[in-house]
Order: sequence, then C-alpha cells, then structure tokens
Amino acid sequence: MPIKLATTVAGLRTEGARLLGSGQGRSQGLVPTMGALHEGHAALARAAVEQNDVVVATIFVNPLQFGDAVDLDRYPRTLDADLALLEDQGVDLVFAPPVEEVYPGGEPLVRITSGRLGEKWEGASRPGHFDGALTVVAKLLHYGLPAAGLPAAGAAPGGLPAYRAYFGQKDAQQLALVRRMVADLNFPVEIVGVPTVRAVDGLALSSRNRFLSGEEREAALVLSRALRLLEERADARQPLDLDSARALVESQPLVGLDYFEVVDPETLEPLAENCRQTPFSGEALALIAAKVGPVRLIDNAPLRS
Ligand code: PAF
Repeated sequence: MPIKLATTVAGLRTEGARLLGSGQGRSQGLVPTMGALHEGHAALARAAVEQNDVVVATIFVNPLQFGDAVDLDRYPRTLDADLALLEDQGVDLVFAPPVEEVYPGGEPLVRITSGRLGEKWEGASRPGHFDGALTVVAKLLHYGLPAAGLPAAGAAPGGLPAYRAYFGQKDAQQLALVRRMVADLNFPVEIVGVPTVRAVDGLALSSRNRFLSGEEREAALVLSRALRLLEERADARQPLDLDSARALVESQPLVGLDYFEVVDPETLEPLAENCRQTPFSGEALALIAAKVGPVRLIDNAPLRS
C-alpha cells in the first residue's frame, strides 16, 4: 500500500485509526525522527514493521532541542527522499507537521525536565537539548497513541492495541532518558532500542556525517576503533584500560575529544576506577563524543562479559 502523509494531529489520528481498525491483538509502532533519514533510520522502521500491524513514522525538526538558530536552519530537510525510504521499509503513515501544529502557542511554558541524567555528557555541551527532545517525544508519543484515534464504540475489544516506539542505540543518552521518562511518568508505551548501524569501515551512521570532508571522515574512524578495543577487552574479560583507548583517540590530530567514559547503562554514572584496572565483568556502556573538524560526533558501545 502506498505510504500516507498526515500534516495535522487530526489527520494522523483519523488515518491511524482507519489503518489499525478494530479487533484483538492489534499493535502500532511509532518511529520518531527529524528526517534526513539514512540506513540507521531504515533499521528502526524495519524493526517496527516486523513487530507491529501498523507503523507510523514522524518527521519533525524540533526547534526546542536546538541551542542555536543556525544549527536549526542548517539541519537538512529531505522530505521526498525520506518518504521514499520509509515507504520502502513498509511504513504505513508519516506524520510530518509544520511547527505551528506541534507548538500552536509558540514555545511551551511547561516542558519535560530531563534532570541530572540530562545534564551530563551530551547535556553538558548542549544545555536544554534533552528537555527539548523529551518534550517533543512526549507529545509525539501522545499523538501516536493508537487508542486516541479509535471511536469509543469501536475500541478494541479485549484490550487496547499494543503500542511500541523505536529509538536508536546510537543516541544512548536520549534512549536512556526516554526509557526513564516513560517509566517515571507511566506512559503506556514500550520503548524498543535498535542497535547502531555502521558503515563497513565502522563509522556510526549519522545525519551529521554528510558535513565531514574525506579527510575528516577518515580521522573519525578512530572513534569506532577505540570503542572496538574496549569491546574486545570486555569480551576477553581483561581490564578495559580506558586510558590507552583514550590515547589512541587523542593521537589523531583532526579529532578533539570531548569525553570518553565507561558508564552504568541506566544511570550513565561513570563506573568505578577498578573497571579500568581489574578484569572486566558485568555490563557497561562506553560513551564517546568528539569534534572532528567542525562536526560533533557521538558513538557508544555496550560492553558485556
Ligand atoms: O533522535 C531524534 O531524531 C530526535 O531527537 C527525536 C527523538 C526525533 C526527537 O526530536
């Protein structure tokens, strides 16, 4: 079926309800994006299509999560290509609203606060970013609620449809925050994290990669190499030796390291010093952020032994 496009919340709800129909055991997946889609987003859409009867993707460049108007203007808008990519993955409906539809009264007075978890790592260099991202994610999750569009009389007998939303593990801090928001504020949705998609040479896919020159792109590979080193040590139950992995990144002159840490996957607090010195065991997350030329890149690797 050709993909449908809604630009209003009312249109999204009507079309969503029509696609979902009524009956038991129905499910709806939501894939929130800001557009400029690549293979990483395609993986989110594919996971949603595999697991749900109806899949809605959203494309909205959220002004609330940009610190700076220049970055917001510079963010690539590629709606036609995005629709084609989503249609190829089997997405049913795209919600691509104008800014006035999402923020009819201008900037909202009340926002979701990301708290301590949102102030560290990416939050430290982008103040307010996660409050803005969580606020729009909360709105998108509400707009996409499958039950919201069902006529009362036709509401699915035997229970509400299952509702799942898909986020990339590439944005590990955003994923941890969305999980916490949904748990702490009791949103009726299951959050599904989808593994990072990498180019064959290891570079994590990102809509920012298009701003790297050839030389910068080559230099950026040191991020995934350093993460790979930690993964290999974790797999082998060796000390992680984060300092030598850091030194590898710092040896690359085009790369300005911001942070490189091994943290608890839920709280994102750095793990005790001993996980660097003593054989690694358990679960952790390695987080890295660096500027490569003018482009800020982030990457991460789950560590398990
Ligand atoms: O990860 C993104 O693309 C955005 O932060 C999101 C989740 C769509 C909210 O604007």
